[in-house]
Parts: sequence; C-alpha cells; structure tokens
Amino acid sequence: MNRKIDYVQLLNQSIEQEKPLVPPLTGSLQANKCCNSRCAYCGIWEINAKNPPVEDLFLAVNQLADLGVRMISITGGEPFLHPDLPQVIQLMDQRGILSSTMTNGLMLNQKKLVPILSAGINSLCVSLDTIDADIYRQIRGVALDPVLDGIRYVAEIRNEFPTLSDFSINCVISKANIHDLEPLIEFCNELNIKVGFQPLHNSFDSENNPVELKFSRDDHALLDEQIEMILQKKHQGYLISSGDDYLLAFPAYLIEKKLPEQTTCTAGYTSIAIDYQLNVKGCWPMRPIGNLHTQTLEEIWNSEAYTRQRAAMIDLDCPGCWLRCHTEHLSDDWLNNMHFWISKIKGGN
Ligand SMILES: C[S@@+](CC[C@H](N)C(=O)[O-])C[C@H]1O[C@@H](n2cnc3c(N)ncnc32)[C@H](O)[C@@H]1O
Ligand code: SF4
Ligand code: SF4
Repeated sequence: MNRKIDYVQLLNQSIEQEKPLVPPLTGSLQANKCCNSRCAYCGIWEINAKNPPVEDLFLAVNQLADLGVRMISITGGEPFLHPDLPQVIQLMDQRGILSSTMTNGLMLNQKKLVPILSAGINSLCVSLDTIDADIYRQIRGVALDPVLDGIRYVAEIRNEFPTLSDFSINCVISKANIHDLEPLIEFCNELNIKVGFQPLHNSFDSENNPVELKFSRDDHALLDEQIEMILQKKHQGYLISSGDDYLLAFPAYLIEKKLPEQTTCTAGYTSIAIDYQLNVKGCWPMRPIGNLHTQTLEEIWNSEAYTRQRAAMIDLDCPGCWLRCHTEHLSDDWLNNMHFWISKIKGGN
C-alpha cells in the first residue's frame, strides 16, 4: 500500500466533499507566549505571558494524537523557556507521534538542550537570519555569539542522539539580511546543516514591521538576484530545504503581498494550530474556532465552524500568508520526507 498516494487521494476527496476524510498530518502547538529575544519582526516578547501549565500541553498532545496527527511541531514564544518541554516531547514519543521544535537558539547549552534531545525530539530547527553580529542585533535585538556557539554544539553532539533525524536552520528574509544570505548558506553547509527560508510577514503579534526590514518596489531586481543565488547553490548541492517554486514566489510576496496565480490553501485539511491558551484554528493567521478547555479536538475538527473556515481557506479568503509551515507542507518533497520519517522512526504504522 502506498500511504502517500492514499493520503493525497483522500485529501482531494475531502476537498471535493468539503468534509475531512483524513486527519490532519501535522499539529502546531504553541508552548508559550513569552520570549528572551527582542525580534523587530515579532511582538511576542513584548506580551511576555506566563508559561501555561504542562497539563494543558499534555491535553493538546493527547487530543492531537487521538485525532490521528503524525507530527506535532512545538512553537512559541520560545519553547525552550517552558521548563517541562522534555516531558511534552516524551509524551509525543509514547503516543507514536513525530516531534519537532523550533528555537531562537539562545539556550542551546548542555543544561537545556540535552534533556530535550534525550526526550527523543525528532526534528530541531533554529532560527538564524544572518551570521553578521550587527545585522543579527538589528533584527533580533540580542547578541549573536551564544546562538552560533549553540548551533556548533548541536552539530557536535547530534550523532549521539539517533532519534534526532533532522537539524535545520530557518532564515527569515528581510531587507536587513538580504545582502548576507550567501555567508549564512556557507556557514550551514560547513556544519552540514540544512537551511530553509521564509519571507518576512506582517509582524507576528505586533502592529507593523520596522521600515528597515521592509522591501519596496525598487527592490525587485535585488530580490530576484538573491533568490537566483539561493537556487543556484541549491542545485550545486548545498543543503537548502526550500522548494524552488516556493522560493520563486518570494519577490512578489515580499513586495506586493501577492501569492502565485492559482494558489489555494489546503492547510485547513492538512494541519491544525493550537495556541498556548488551547484555542484551536485552521492555521496561525486565522481566528480561533474553539477551545480545548470546553470541547474535544474531535468536536472542533468536525464542527460547522471548522467547515466554514476550511472553505474560506481553500478560497484564500484569509490574510494570505507564504509561511513555510503552511505553504510548503503539501509539496511533494515534504510529503516524501514525512513518509520517510514515519516509516523510519515510527515503524511505518
Ligand atoms: C514565532 S517563532 C517561535 C519559535 C522561536 N521563538 C524562534 O524564533 O525560532 C517561529 C518562526 O517564525 C519566524 N518569524 C517570526 N516573526 C516573523 C515574521 N514577521 N515574518 C516571518 N517569520 C517570522 C521566526 O524567525 C521563527 O523562525
Ligand atoms: S520570533 Fe521567536 S525569538 Fe523572536 S521574539 Fe518572536 S518568539 Fe521570540
Ligand atoms: S494562505 Fe491563508 S489559509 Fe493558508 S495558511 Fe496562510 S493565512 Fe492560512
């Protein structure tokens, strides 16, 4: 049986019938909404809410597992600031779900990192937009050195943790780092780390992005040139995970917030987002549909309100993002990778 073909067939039927016939492949769970970084393009650090009780995160993981998701990505805020992150990862392992988390990289030290790796995390992604300390401070408001030291530390010890099958970098492309992408790609390649890109979006949880980060109409040629450079490096064999079509759409998105013609969005069927207060939504930019404190995830997933949100998402009646966690998650590469992981790590069941 070819599980990938089965999944895609059932997904297409779900869209035709406007009813989910398969569970979402992935869940995205926000561990908290506090942070020790100071990013100019994200307002979460200003909100600085308290960590939720670990019982809430357990509840979300269990409900996602009951629904049948294959992978949960833990995001934040800064997940490494949640003291019980290792226990949450252990639960995912016990429930047979692939675990993934993303960090700003400020706490990749032995004390914080080793319990997370020992708990069995399958995929770890570090945000790194530049290897230039001044540009890093301009974008993220803090020092770069601890992050680079942490990334080198993970690269050094990763082989001691066979469950860690993916260690990667996520780079947000903005006007501030556009001239600094090549050294970043070289740095990752030297350490044998995959790098993926994501275009700057309207600021997460704050009003707007600072003007120094934003592109203008005059930047088209510059963007085209840098995307071409990334594609060339990728085709030369550099470890770049972003799909070609995804990257080629960056200039229009970054300048005009335009998505490619014929774009549709299946995120309402393939993924599910749960915030630190247990609000559930079809994707991060959409409004909440229900809350796990008052309903089960199965009830929310099968509700009328979810059906309406899915239909809006398919029609792109939404804020229209080009986030890799949503947009790339049904590319052929991604599905192949996902099915490879499932069979390798969780025995293919
Ligand atoms: C919200 S953060 C949470 C995880 C962690 N705090 C981190 O920074 O990696 C998830 C990812 O979103 C990216 N991000 C934050 N604000 C963004 C924006 N305005 N546009 C595009 N990506 C953004 C971050 O760089 C990070 O890679
Ligand atoms: S992007 Fe991540 S590191 Fe930066 S402020 Fe937001 S949550 Fe914190
Ligand atoms: S394109 Fe729209 S529906 Fe799809 S993930 Fe982005 S905001 Fe959500």
